[in-house]
Amino acid sequence: MSDKKNGLHKGLTSYGDSGFSLFLRKAFIKGAGYTDDALDRRIVGIVDTGSAYNPCHGNSAQLIEAVKRGVMLAGGLPMEFPVISIHESFASPTSMFLRNLMSMDVEEMIRAQPMDAVVLIGGCDKTVPALLMGAASAGLPAITLVTGAMLTGSHDGVRVGACTDCRRYWGRFRAQEIDEGEIARVNNQLVASVGTCSVMGTASTMACVVEGLGMMLPGGASPPAVTADRIRIAERSGATAVAMADSQLTPQRIMSADAFENALRVLLAIGGSTNGIIHLTAIAGRLGIKLDLDRLDALGRDTPVLLDLKPSGLHYMEDFHKAGGMPALLRELRPLLHLDVLTVTGRTLGEELDGAVVGFAQDVIRTRANPIYPQGGIAVLRGNLAPNGALIKQSAADPKLFEREGRAVVFESLDDLAARIDAPDLDVTPDDFLVLQNGGPKGGYAMPEAGYLPIPTKLSRAGVKDMVRISDARMSGTAFGAIVLHVSPESAVGGPLALVKNGDRIRLSVSGRKLELLVDEAELARRRSALRPREADLKLRAERGYAKLYMRSVLQAEDGCDFDFLRKAS
Ligand code: FES
Repeated sequence: MSDKKNGLHKGLTSYGDSGFSLFLRKAFIKGAGYTDDALDRRIVGIVDTGSAYNPCHGNSAQLIEAVKRGVMLAGGLPMEFPVISIHESFASPTSMFLRNLMSMDVEEMIRAQPMDAVVLIGGCDKTVPALLMGAASAGLPAITLVTGAMLTGSHDGVRVGACTDCRRYWGRFRAQEIDEGEIARVNNQLVASVGTCSVMGTASTMACVVEGLGMMLPGGASPPAVTADRIRIAERSGATAVAMADSQLTPQRIMSADAFENALRVLLAIGGSTNGIIHLTAIAGRLGIKLDLDRLDALGRDTPVLLDLKPSGLHYMEDFHKAGGMPALLRELRPLLHLDVLTVTGRTLGEELDGAVVGFAQDVIRTRANPIYPQGGIAVLRGNLAPNGALIKQSAADPKLFEREGRAVVFESLDDLAARIDAPDLDVTPDDFLVLQNGGPKGGYAMPEAGYLPIPTKLSRAGVKDMVRISDARMSGTAFGAIVLHVSPESAVGGPLALVKNGDRIRLSVSGRKLELLVDEAELARRRSALRPREADLKLRAERGYAKLYMRSVLQAEDGCDFDFLRKAS
């Protein structure tokens, strides 16, 4: 061995005799046909998140093959290994419940197995955050490779893609605008290939912000899953990982406070998913960096939305790629970015942008002078209903609903919502505010993407397309509407949202950044003293295993919903 601290020598199994530990390890790996020459190289671990349950990662095998080629071309030894894989539609109660478990799996398997750098292959919403949370805690040089977006499909001549169009067509079906035959035909077209959702949902958001963060090769966010560009990025990621091992370019050196600020700028400029805020906060928390909601709001006030992608705009990820992808967007954002931060290439962001190709005329990435939306897509609200903050994605909503007062129509849980939202006798008008309680991290469903409360059927059939909706839940990045999310503290731990009753008045002011429950303090105190927070009951039911760990340890939205014991002290 040329280097007795790296490669196969790392993290020897404890037998009380390190020489024997290495001897045994080599004996076993040679059973797979490896030579001493191969075993003497830098080792690059490749995290395999391929799974039959995860079609968003359906190209994993192809990507791994290309990464391995890149590692070997650079003189390293690639070793892929499996970790948990999570798909949005195949995880119960929610994928969010499992994100922290996946991050622990990633961290511990990076630590436990001998490797000098690691390529993190992910894509579907929770996988990229979990990979980066784990890698940040493990502290080994790491580079992210996303699986890439799916292609778009076509329904009766209309271009469609998951999942903004999933919601749009389902809304039309609920409103009886289309019949069962048509909704079944649409179902065949929404996901036209393997890969991640084709709009600016959470997966696309995380891909873009991770490139903005510097943890991915320039241009790595946008190539669709089934393209040659995607395979080339994979090969280059493998080769880059070997160089990162040589230079000890760790996540701590790349993911600085300034790099996270760049990532937030990107998230705002792309009209990114509100989920991205939670995930970035969790990743930063692993490095002892606190992302502040008020700073996010301040950044939002001078960061325009530049990317014309659904749900805020018109286009899809494959259009973004053809328009130049993230290098083109970052070039436009350049005056607002910290340029001296390091990227996985070992060069600074400024150096990378200096070397980026010159732009060309296109209509997907706007200029700062001609934005889609003049301010950042996301505003932070506060008030007596959300003392620790709430978010609204203003770029994906009708501004007519932003400054108003409304009567609360309250649903105390997801089950209550499902049971009553379509009841013909539901007392609701288009001017009311729909309020969902117990949708937060400890509400029993692990903060589901339920903030996009459906418009009650009797209103949707009358043509109502949007209403103010308020909850402590999350929302899919592919959704749209006047939806106030992540209300904190959540109702399950006794936050003010739990005190709202049917008929209460609520005032929303997006321009004033306010969310107020217009009930006098004496009445609120009375309600508070009578309240038994739902968390208490759920803790009793989570008697063992991961659910118990989750209920005991999960933090609120403003702390990224990470577990308290996984964060690094700042
Ligand atoms: Fe996997 Fe949308 S369901 S990215």
